[in-house]
Amino acid sequence: MPHSSSAPSVALSNHESGRLFLRSREVFPDGTTRATVERDPIPRYILKGDGAYLIDVDGQRFLDLSNNFTTLIHGHGFAPVVDAVARLLHDGTCFSNPTVHEIDLAELLVDRIPAIEQIRFVNTGTEAVMFAIKAARAFTGRSCIAKIEGAYHGSYDWAEVGQVGTPATWGSPDAPIAVPSYAGMPISVAEEAVILRFNDAEGARRQIAAAADRLACVLLDLMPSRIGLISPDPDFIAAVVETARQHGILVICDEVLNLRQSYHGASARFGIQPDLIAAGKIIGGGFPIGAIGGSRHVMSVFDGSAGRAKLAQGGTFSANPVSMVAGRVSMEAMTEVAFARLEQMGDRLRGALAAAVDRHKAHFIISGAASLFRIHAKQAVPRDYREAYPTPDQAATMKAMSVFFRDQGIFLPNGGTACLSTAVSERDIDKIADVFDRYLSTSDSSSQRNC
Ligand SMILES: Cc1ncc(COP(=O)(O)O)c(C=O)c1O
Repeated sequence: MPHSSSAPSVALSNHESGRLFLRSREVFPDGTTRATVERDPIPRYILKGDGAYLIDVDGQRFLDLSNNFTTLIHGHGFAPVVDAVARLLHDGTCFSNPTVHEIDLAELLVDRIPAIEQIRFVNTGTEAVMFAIKAARAFTGRSCIAKIEGAYHGSYDWAEVGQVGTPATWGSPDAPIAVPSYAGMPISVAEEAVILRFNDAEGARRQIAAAADRLACVLLDLMPSRIGLISPDPDFIAAVVETARQHGILVICDEVLNLRQSYHGASARFGIQPDLIAAGKIIGGGFPIGAIGGSRHVMSVFDGSAGRAKLAQGGTFSANPVSMVAGRVSMEAMTEVAFARLEQMGDRLRGALAAAVDRHKAHFIISGAASLFRIHAKQAVPRDYREAYPTPDQAATMKAMSVFFRDQGIFLPNGGTACLSTAVSERDIDKIADVFDRYLSTSDSSSQRNC
């Protein structure tokens, strides 16, 4: 049931989340301060997190499968991070001078991620992608970028264009339209973006070659969440990398989300050596962070030691010690063994969900890798954004499913990407599988209809 601020609902004042939402609607347009929070019909306001669980202000407890959009790899209140940050707070939270903490986290990431020889820290994944694109421009002297239709990379205009196409606007499959993401987006942004279809190797070769003398970079997320958390075809990756290399175009891997796929990150997992990586989320241990890393040669654009850098990069809170310490402590606990255990749990969960689909002969499909998973109200795993795009019935099914999960005490992001943390237990995995099985039992007839 939609709410408008001109018609407050009496029901809203029956519980604490409702009362908070009534206050929120006075001070935030639409009642929230970020677009992506769940609301059905109102957001659940959180009192506290507790490991794999959330407790809302009405005292309800939920298994949290969002982990702040895949950020919290250890769940909520991970004791080593809490202790390290608590100790640090007494010494100050931000300085205009460097600290040892930034070197510690940088060394850890350089050691682990093969494509990263040098790194710079910023505060969000959006900034990391933005500076990676700017670095590619500064390095090549070209302004255009190629990117994947529908993939999410945060809110920098060139990273955002072509992300919200619909069947009515996305144009022909051979030349996807750079659909603006907001009214008034400068036309020049669309003119400077070439939109590729995920997993279309031939299209990628053709489009990158056609725009080669204008392209600074190809921006890739190897398993884009909004395209359904699906694996890239090796042919597609090869086509992008080979064509980019032929023309001196840099390859940027956005691993803001997918770095959590392995100890060495996502590019290493898929066997590619990008020129630049944008990182974020898990490397901040629950605090704001972003990072741009790459080869020394490319990263030299940030080097201002002999005068002005080709690309100046600052940021009042960049490399603040709180994010640096939290990130290091969190990542240190993510040993190869910890990554392997998370992956095993992810495999077990995806297997159990797929088995439930088979048992019920339901029109659902499961995708994902490592600690990430996604349930689709579709018969086949999509191959690109157009196939992943839900019909209205599929979107309604996904919504009904997340409401069912919520009523059973599990917070499953509405139609989106879900993930496990090291705080999740084997019993939690059984519970997720069991709730999905029960959802399929109760919705057998409607799920058949929806696809
Ligand atoms: C792949 C990817 N890139 C970039 C971003 C933007 O990161 P942030 O929200 O920290 O700005 C996100 C956020 O979800 C993401 O998933």
